Formats: sequence, structure tokens, C-alpha cells
Amino acid sequence: MSFTIVIFGASGDLTSRKLVPALYQLFRKGRIEGPLRLVGFSRSEFSHDAWRSALAKTTEEFAGEKFDAGQWAKFAKQIYYHQGDIGKEQDFQSLSQFLDEIEGCTRCSRLYYLSTAPRFYKPAIEQLGRSGLADENLGARRIVVEKPFGTDLASAQDLNRATHQVFSEHQVYRIDHYLGKETVQNLMVLRFGNTIYEPIWNRNYIDHVQITVAEAVDVGSRAGYYDSAGVVRDMIQNHLLQLLMVTAMEAPVRYEADAIRNEKVKVLNAIRPLTARHVAEDTFRGQYRGYTSAEGVEPTSRTATFAGIKLAVDNWRWQGVPFYLRSGKGMSCRTTQIVIQFHAPPHKLFADSPRDLGEANRLVIQVQPAEGIQVHFQTKVPDAGMRMRQTHLTFNYYKEFRGSMPEAYERLLLDALEGDASLFARADEVEAAWRICDPILEAWRTSDRPSLFMYDAGFWGPDECREWMLKQGREWFDTCPVLG
Ligand code: BG6
Repeated sequence: MSFTIVIFGASGDLTSRKLVPALYQLFRKGRIEGPLRLVGFSRSEFSHDAWRSALAKTTEEFAGEKFDAGQWAKFAKQIYYHQGDIGKEQDFQSLSQFLDEIEGCTRCSRLYYLSTAPRFYKPAIEQLGRSGLADENLGARRIVVEKPFGTDLASAQDLNRATHQVFSEHQVYRIDHYLGKETVQNLMVLRFGNTIYEPIWNRNYIDHVQITVAEAVDVGSRAGYYDSAGVVRDMIQNHLLQLLMVTAMEAPVRYEADAIRNEKVKVLNAIRPLTARHVAEDTFRGQYRGYTSAEGVEPTSRTATFAGIKLAVDNWRWQGVPFYLRSGKGMSCRTTQIVIQFHAPPHKLFADSPRDLGEANRLVIQVQPAEGIQVHFQTKVPDAGMRMRQTHLTFNYYKEFRGSMPEAYERLLLDALEGDASLFARADEVEAAWRICDPILEAWRTSDRPSLFMYDAGFWGPDECREWMLKQGREWFDTCPVLG
């Protein structure tokens, strides 16, 4: 396999922080078969060497201990830079010529990576089409599109249409880096590589599911983008719905892209559409104090930096089992966790033991950090009558496998090179996710219900959200990484 990766938006943060370090790791580990060339495309001025040196610095910073100058030197030989403007047709023609010159093969495969500001996705795709760069007669031509894919259903449909004018669906890889995380893939292994969970993975045993992606950081230097996006577009439409799909999907018939994505889309299609009344009652929004003083944020901004959303999945397996999604910036700690909360036992046998809310069995899938899984169950306290206490069994990735976890982008880039789209979102999947989020965005924009609650950074979001949950007879599992 001889591949050229062209990164559009090469001078951006994602390229230096994630993409190039991930490609370097793949190279260092010997995972890439055959020659690989990397070409950066953006408006900034760089010579090949200047770009290589800039990337050497950032890769050393982001690859940490695993940076080996000798390996880098070998890798860097195949790095090139081509200055160009997405708005100019002639720049794509000169890119095409440049690629022909450096490749020197008759059937070279190419992967175009859109890492630009989202407003350039459509023009870049159109230019690739016009300049013949998407033509598959001379080798595979694939395109990776970063999130966000659209800002609502209409814009995602428009972008899908524009993409399909140039690329067929099998050439398109819409990225959601959460699917590249080992622990998210392990959720499929946990569910479909074992027999013991399947019989209890349903409404008969599960009371509800909580999916929390909490971040301690604030919006930082991305405030300008974030203010027009907010938590629903930034996190819920993509990362949290992906986690929900993998938690709720049926077993695919094969471990293969379309079989997996068919099952995932069925979950989204089974989610009960939210009416304005449901949005008022079943969603919750907040903004951390101090958000509006960040540079790039409107002083009167009502953008939500926190959301709690209750969704119903209307199918046989999940009828009556609410899925609570929650995400926020300025939270108590960084933790991504999926909590499967089982029903309490039907009969209170051990009379002395208080069987409070939350004391029923629980499976906590700690997606990050301190990756692992914990099962919570009641145990008899020794020498204390029949008193019980919640105890746990723990599986910890680091203890079990040692070594550090690979970055999500390593797996995703390798899959895209190998033509495996299992961990990428399909056109209908992205649209179905917007179909769920659009009514929330619309109701939040046009109505005061639910109210926007303020919260202090460093806790678990607005107190009212805890009360909202308690009113439903449930409690958030507010624990910083259980295995930390
Ligand atoms: C990105 C969001 O997609 O995911 C960011 O735009 C967020 O706002 C990030 O911080 C979280 O990713 P991770 O892998 O650190 O959980």
C-alpha cells in the first residue's frame, strides 16, 4: 500500500497536537505498511524543511517520552508542505501536479483530511471534485471530515449532498474521535464478546443509563467557536450520542462497517422525538459563572456550557429505561463514564440494611481517564449482623495491560488508510443525530423553558440538575474517575 495523506488546514492546532503525533506513532510502531507521504496544505508560508522542524517540536511535545529523534528523522523525510488557498482552483491544480511529482507511482492511494474551519469543508470538497483529485481510477481516494459535520440537520444534509456530488459514501470517513478510544471499542467487546451481560442488558434488569462526559476545563481559547456552538453541538450531537448508540445497539451480524452502522442508526431512529414540552421537562441547561467574560463570548450570551438530557429509546429492549446524557465544562473533574444502573432487588430481605437510592447494582464503564470497569454490589459486612455495604470488583486497563493507551487518532487514521469505516459515522447516522438535537436547540433558542441555570466551576454543574434527577427518583453518579 502506497499512501499520501493530504491535510487541509495543516497549520492548525489539530494537525500538530493530534494528527501528526498519531501518524508518527503508527510509523514508529511499524503499523503502516508501505510508503506513506504526508502533505500539509494551508495558506501559511512554510518551506518543506520549516514545516518539518515545526512539527518535530510539537510532536516531541505531544508524543512525550515516546519521541525518538532517529525514528522521527526517517518519518520526516516523507513530509512535505504545499502552500495553497481553498478558495483558489489553481492551487488545487498545482497540488495535483505536486502530488504526481512526489508520488512517482501509477496507482497511489490518497487520503484527504479536512482539518480546516468547518466553513471550508464544502468549498474544499468542491475543489477536490473540480480538479479531478477525487477520481478513483488511479487508486483509492478517501476523505476524512472532522467534526462538526453541520450545525443542524439542514446544514448536515447540505454538506452530505455536496460531498456525494464528488465522493461516494464508501470514500467518506466522518470522524468522531470518541469511537477511536479503546474503552469505547471495548464496550462492544464487553457486550458482544461475552455472554454474561446480554441476558441482563435490557429493561428487565436495568433501571436507567447515565452517560456523563465531564470536563474540568473551561472553554479556554476556543470561546469564539464555542459561543456559537454550545454543549449540544460540541458534545451531545456527536460524542454522547455515539456512546449512547454503542451502549444501546443490538449485536451486528458481522464486525463490519455497514452491519455496525445499521445497528447504530436503528438506535437513533428509535429515540423518541422531543417536542417543545419534552424539551422543557426532559432537558436541563446551565452556564458556568464567568463564561461571558471570556474573550470572544458575547457579554449577554445564553450559550449552554452544561446539558442534562433525558432520552427514551422506543424499542423492545429499552422501553421504559431512560438514558440520561450529561456533559459540561467547568465541572468537578475530567471523567467520561457510562453507568448502567440496575433495578433494586424486588424484596427487602435484610431488614436492617437501608436500601437507599443508588444502592442497587451498578456497572460503571470508565471511558477516561483511569480506564476500566467496575461492578458494584452489596456485600455482608463481617461481624455486623446482616448489615450490607456496597463493594466492587474492578478491572483496570493499566494494571492488566501495562503500557499507555494509544491515542484515538492512531486507530482512526490507520482504519481510514486501511479502508475500514466501522468507527466512522455514516451520512444517515449524522443526520439522525441532528434530528434528535435540532428540537432541543430550537426550543432552547426560542423559549425560557428550561431556564438557563448558572453554576460555579469546579462542581457537578447546577444544583438544580441534581434536584431534577432526584424528582425522578434517581441520583447522578457524581464520582470522579472510580478507578482514579
Ligand atoms: C471535542 C470538543 O470534540 O472533544 C471539545 O470540541 C472537547 O470541546 C473534546 O473538549 C473532548 O475530547 P476528549 O477526548 O478530551 O474527551
